[in-house]
Amino acid sequence: MRDLFDKIYRDKGPLGKWAEYAEGYFVFPKLEGEISNRMSFNGKDVITWSINDYLGLANNPEVRKVDAEAALKYGSAYPMGARMMSGHTDLHEQLQNELAAFVNKEAAYVLNFGYQGMVSTIDALVGKDDIIVYDVDAHACIIDGVRLHMGKRFTYKHNDIESLEKNLDRATKMAEQTGGGILVISEGVFGMRGEQGRLKEIAALKKKYNFRFFVDDAHGFGTLGATGAGAGEEQGVQDDIDVYFATFAKSMASTGAFIAGDKEIMDYLKYNLRSQMFAKSLQMQLVVGALKRLDMLRSDKSHKEKLWHIVKALQSGLRERGFDLGTTQSCVTPVYLKGSIPEAMALVKDLRENHGIFCSIVVYPVIPKGLILLRLIPTASHTLEDVSITLDAFSAIRERLENGTYKKMAASVMAAMES
Ligand SMILES: Cc1ncc(COP(=O)(O)O)c(C=O)c1O
Repeated sequence: MRDLFDKIYRDKGPLGKWAEYAEGYFVFPKLEGEISNRMSFNGKDVITWSINDYLGLANNPEVRKVDAEAALKYGSAYPMGARMMSGHTDLHEQLQNELAAFVNKEAAYVLNFGYQGMVSTIDALVGKDDIIVYDVDAHACIIDGVRLHMGKRFTYKHNDIESLEKNLDRATKMAEQTGGGILVISEGVFGMRGEQGRLKEIAALKKKYNFRFFVDDAHGFGTLGATGAGAGEEQGVQDDIDVYFATFAKSMASTGAFIAGDKEIMDYLKYNLRSQMFAKSLQMQLVVGALKRLDMLRSDKSHKEKLWHIVKALQSGLRERGFDLGTTQSCVTPVYLKGSIPEAMALVKDLRENHGIFCSIVVYPVIPKGLILLRLIPTASHTLEDVSITLDAFSAIRERLENGTYKKMAASVMAAMES
């Protein structure tokens, strides 16, 4: 019999195999300094385009003050225990009420972590006779939630309504046999490519099919819609979303998350979300911080306006220079280039070391082989000067990618990796 760890000694996985060369620089980099448009990496100042602090609240002095005062008052332990047992407070309830009102739903439930909350919400909403139909490009937390499902599941092609309909037909036939119902899951904004989920078209299908609609709006909350209530508000279909999810880890620049919907459904979920029933409640310091951030989202539109000013300058600047941004319809700004993984590494090193630009790099297996995705996240804390420096840097690296400079550098990288 084999030792369980044998396979791990042999194969570190598609990303892990690059660890020796990539760790500390391309993966697990250490960005230092206060969270803002300019931070320090490897001892150098860089313009940071890789932090989901969309509204620039992470380092806002008013927010920091409230966070600090709450930490002083409550410490990081309070309340101890799961919500159901000993981890519930008036302020958790207040936050839920305010969040529900903000996203235009009857009720909300605060979650300690978004990922686990999503997994548990999917798990709690479906039984073995139910069928899940979800976008094939769904975030890992949706995939993991679906993995727990004991019944049937179908994926539809990314944002493809025809494919969704085909799968709704199949799901409907199957549900008629099992006696179950159908849950459709989409993201409000797909975080890698920046496309909005086609919530309006999906919602319209409710006239033809019987299903409930669950939207993970991690990137839409705070950034889209007239009031910032997200992709559902932006597309005018918030009422058709049966369960709405958003995390505090992006626009709210914190930790935690929430779901919102009809009161009866939220009441059911609060008694059935395993990741909340059997894990510690969101600590008070974060609850107080979330109340402050929500207040700022509601009362001060200038953060969102500033964000979009930067988004527009960055995206139109890149497009004017002929860069391929795919089909983004949000703040997420993907730049697609063609090249191998070693070329991508040489290019990113050049961007960071010689141009002072820090952005995330995504390669195969997350995207198809031969493509390099540089993902930029504009925020309200960026400036037009940051945009202008970045546009020049991108033009320079594209030229070097096209004239083979990185290919030559990549050859030496490969040789170093093989030696
Ligand atoms: C689409 C999406 N859903 C869920 C999550 C998980 O949220 P959290 O970081 O609060 O666990 C993320 C990442 O933050 C995300 O991008």
